[in-house]
Amino acid sequence: MTPPSRTARRALGGLALAGVAAALVWWRLSDPSGAATGLLRPDDTALLQRGEQLYRVHCASCHGANLQGQENWRERGADGRLPAPPHDDSGHTWHHPDEVLFQLTKDGVAKAAGLPDYPTNMPAYGGTLSDADIVAVLSWIKSRWTPETRRLHDEVNRQSRQHAPGGS
Ligand code: HEC
Repeated sequence: MTPPSRTARRALGGLALAGVAAALVWWRLSDPSGAATGLLRPDDTALLQRGEQLYRVHCASCHGANLQGQENWRERGADGRLPAPPHDDSGHTWHHPDEVLFQLTKDGVAKAAGLPDYPTNMPAYGGTLSDADIVAVLSWIKSRWTPETRRLHDEVNRQSRQHAPGGS
């Protein structure tokens, strides 16, 4: 038996590395905590309790106790402003990746959308809620979606990661 050539050893080393990369990708996609798909942790029970309390105090008055939003939420009112949209499956909250939801809540719609003069009733919560509170309330909102909508939202997160500069 001749010892494996240097090229063969290199090839084997390459395969091992590719294996590690594949395992990492698999781990990131299958991580049940949600960390792999974004900021939100809709399976973290303690966090959800806090998130629900925060939602009742800060969000329910506009977005509804059952996340149903306000009447005719697609049509601007007499003041030219949109009513609060639902946060349940019927709205478009789940169309946005975690980072965008976080920004919308922390900085408000006008700043998050880069439209400084956009008239809106959605407050910016950066001065009221900590970053951890914002993650808690958004995690609770996500925990209320059907499994199918949660899965679609995980996919939205994945896509936004792939398209983000420097993201993977
Ligand atoms: C005073 C009413 C009001 C309160 C309170 C309020 N919102 Fe909103 N929110 C709105 C309105 C109105 C919009 C629609 C924004 C627009 O003008 O385009 C909105 C939009 C949003 C959106 C974007 C949804 C989408 O589908 O694009 C998010 C996310 C959001 N709110 C989160 C929250 C969270 C979280 C809280 C509580 C911490 C909260 N909001 C409290 C009125 C409110």
